[in-house]
Amino acid sequence: MSSTAYTRPSKPPGTAGERRPPRLAKELGRIEPKKLGIGLVAGCCLALLTYISFARLFAIYSPVFESTSLVMKNAPPAALTQQNPVLTDQQQTKIEEGKDVSEDVTDTKEPSFAEATQKNEEKKETVTKPSSGETDEATITCDENGVDEGFPYARPPVCELTGDIRISPKDKTMFFVNPSGAGPFNDNGEKKIRPYARKDDFLLPGVVEVTIKSVPSPAAAPACTRTHDVPAVVFSVAGYTDNFFHDNTDVMIPLFLTTAHLAGEVQLLITNFKPWWVHKYTPLLKKISNYEVINFDDKDGGDVVHCFRRGGLGLYRDRDLIISPHPTRNPRNYTMVDYNRFLRRAFGLPRDTPAVLGDKTGARPRMLLIERKGTRKLLNLHDVAALCEELGFAVTVAEAGADVRGFAEKVNAADVLLAVHGAGLTNQIFLPTGAVLVQIVPWGKMDWMATNFYGQPARDMRLRYVEYYVSEEETTLKDKYPRDHYVFKDPMAIHAQGWFALAEIVMKQDVKVNVTRFKPFLLKALDELQE
Ligand SMILES: *[C@@H]1O[C@H](CO)[C@@H](O)[C@H](O)[C@H]1NC(C)=O
Ligand SMILES: *[C@@H]1O[C@H](CO)[C@@H](O)[C@H](O)[C@H]1NC(C)=O
Repeated sequence: MSSTAYTRPSKPPGTAGERRPPRLAKELGRIEPKKLGIGLVAGCCLALLTYISFARLFAIYSPVFESTSLVMKNAPPAALTQQNPVLTDQQQTKIEEGKDVSEDVTDTKEPSFAEATQKNEEKKETVTKPSSGETDEATITCDENGVDEGFPYARPPVCELTGDIRISPKDKTMFFVNPSGAGPFNDNGEKKIRPYARKDDFLLPGVVEVTIKSVPSPAAAPACTRTHDVPAVVFSVAGYTDNFFHDNTDVMIPLFLTTAHLAGEVQLLITNFKPWWVHKYTPLLKKISNYEVINFDDKDGGDVVHCFRRGGLGLYRDRDLIISPHPTRNPRNYTMVDYNRFLRRAFGLPRDTPAVLGDKTGARPRMLLIERKGTRKLLNLHDVAALCEELGFAVTVAEAGADVRGFAEKVNAADVLLAVHGAGLTNQIFLPTGAVLVQIVPWGKMDWMATNFYGQPARDMRLRYVEYYVSEEETTLKDKYPRDHYVFKDPMAIHAQGWFALAEIVMKQDVKVNVTRFKPFLLKALDELQE
């Protein structure tokens, strides 16, 4: 059996030559979700535009129709509802005190990634100032200009500070003793960031805005009520959290990227604090930090001021479940395999590798079939499970729920994870390295999402990956649309209409796989395990 018989090429619809101009990206970023479709239909190059829109679409609707309510739940205080203009001043600024008085401005251009869709144009400005002679060197470095064209939300702003940093939750402010006053500050000596690790205009208004305030002397900052020996990391858990995909892509992976090298010696300060969310992820947060999380929103904290010598505002992130080396954002070259290991240690998951199969061990490969009860149901789940049993798998059917650790244990016990495209596939992060992920991809040219959200991550996690694209015979869309409809003749036309059409048509189908057609893919999963 040739592997090409079972895997279809999954590439973004756009080819390397079909990248959209950057200007358009910015405009798309500003268009409200509901207008996106109109804009796209008006565009001339549908394939090109559709490629761009996938990430954008997903950015908007990925919390699976709950985005609006989630964002509303995280509604900002009245004072914060005024949205910031899109930041166009893309600078990375570093100020060092204690050197020369002259301004030494250095431009550096980062090496670009091999991948055609990624581009980074960063300007690094180094300003040196004479020593004040009394405090530690004050430095601030803000990275807010990263661009990943295929993933416009993937480069949220992050600032790192050293020196005398005084964090006042009450004022939502990090006071930064900065005698020179230099840095990426406005006329009031302020730098404001909404520290949610997804640069998504749709959700950012719901993220608490935190101010870094440059002050000339310690006397101009509030007095410390508590001094910490470890660095601070301030971030938000607003946005799309509580969707398991986003809990990982927007918080946990960024937190891992930002703090793993500190080996627990870091103080987390969380804004848009949600006790239930923090509770849900306590095992991971405890692995990240040896210190109890500080609720940055705590009104009862009164006038408490936390003082640090080092601190960061915001989290580094990359693509969704994909992380790549980067000289400043991922200088230690962490990979998803490292993240998987971190998760296994944090949850105490026992298996790093799948079962050894074969005559000698007599072990049956264990399959976990994730059931979806809402949209994209596998209608003949029981037939599929029966077929899997027949082929030798020991099958468990389960639905991912609120008990993250409990489900993580189930996934880690499996050698093969099988599910229809959806956030449940995020659970592949708990599989032992070398296990197999089988993704059933519904009808509607979902190659880009299938690949970028789950397929490529599986490869990066060193899992074996099998994907099955349903045919038009296997989708419930055939009960809703005639076969000559564009849903079947030209599915890209659905994408071209924007997120709403995609959500309403493609995301709401159910599938009933043809077990005859599906069987070779399961055999391939078995083969992969035995390799
Ligand atoms: C990270 O990878 C780059 C190449 O991508 C390499 O030059 C660098 O030395 C690596 N850093 C570490 C800490 O391994
Ligand atoms: C199921 O798939 C097999 C193999 O591709 C095909 O011959 C058969 O016609 C399909 N059955 C249905 C009902 O579509």
